[in-house]
Amino acid sequence: MAVDLQELTKQALEEIARADSLDQLERVRLRYLARHGGLISGAGARLRELPADQRAAYGRDFNAASGAVHEAAERRREELSSAELERQAGEEWVDMSHPGSPLSRGHAHPVAQLVREIEDIFSYLGYQSVSGPELEDDLHNFQLLNMPPEHPARDAHDTFYLAAPAAGWLYRTHTSPVQMRAMLTSKPPLRIIVPGKVARRDNPDPTHNPVFHQVEGLCVDSGVTVGDLKGTLEYALRALFGRDRRVRLRASFFPYTEPSLEADVACGVCQGSGCRSCLNKGWVEILGSGMVHPQVLRNGGIDPDRFSGFAFGMGPDRIAVLRYGMADVRDLYENDLRLLERF
Ligand code: DAH
Repeated sequence: MAVDLQELTKQALEEIARADSLDQLERVRLRYLARHGGLISGAGARLRELPADQRAAYGRDFNAASGAVHEAAERRREELSSAELERQAGEEWVDMSHPGSPLSRGHAHPVAQLVREIEDIFSYLGYQSVSGPELEDDLHNFQLLNMPPEHPARDAHDTFYLAAPAAGWLYRTHTSPVQMRAMLTSKPPLRIIVPGKVARRDNPDPTHNPVFHQVEGLCVDSGVTVGDLKGTLEYALRALFGRDRRVRLRASFFPYTEPSLEADVACGVCQGSGCRSCLNKGWVEILGSGMVHPQVLRNGGIDPDRFSGFAFGMGPDRIAVLRYGMADVRDLYENDLRLLERF
């Protein structure tokens, strides 16, 4: 019996040494060591047939034989796999400078991009970007801004009032109430811009959508003048539209500013001659502004004898339409990827 095992071990070790692939090695290993039907494992079963006094010696020989074959197979496996790795390293290669295939990624909506751009322009001038609530009360949206109940200027703000149980609340019609909130919570010098959503019961047309965006601005300090207002607006509009686009400032009226100014930009589609998208005006109004009314400063807890300020509110939706020569502000909200992917 012992001879049998020695002979088998010798054969197995020779075959293992000759195996020149991992597959072949595995076949050899199974032939000798497979739990069922392996030549060496099978020899182990004979243990039971032996007379009791021979079993211990046979058991030792058997363990030595299967241990030796097992170890030899393991060693050969390591040799063969490192040879295989070296072959791969030599034959296969990766060009690390080859550009990857592009991932298709989304991007911010054009209006969101524009709002960020406006924030950048004003942050350069020292303005901090803050936000305020979209649902407001009458006090902040109107009264503190010099529009008491029954004031005719309220007519221009076709307001969405909330029904019971939220009666008394409204969807803000402009971002100006955040001016009041800023004045009531911080002391001058104040330089803030407030991007946000507002809503009005306007009939949709090429320049109106019931929900739109505004970016409010407020600067309060000692000695702020109309010159500062004009300089700031000119700087910002040049940054947004480039030096060549025609821009005009004209006198206007807002209850919360005195004097008041509006800025118009030449229509991006007709360049000023009049077309459907500017409702034949040639110009599109993009912002209202003015020197903060002394009573509004007082309402905000600021002494108008010590401080003055200017404020403005601009419409990034219209600015997007003008900048990109789009025909209709409502196109921005159609979620049409053919349009949005251009940005
Ligand atoms: N709130 C005005 C509107 O929605 C825009 C505006 C005008 C804002 C003058 C201002 C301002 O801050 O001073 O049409």
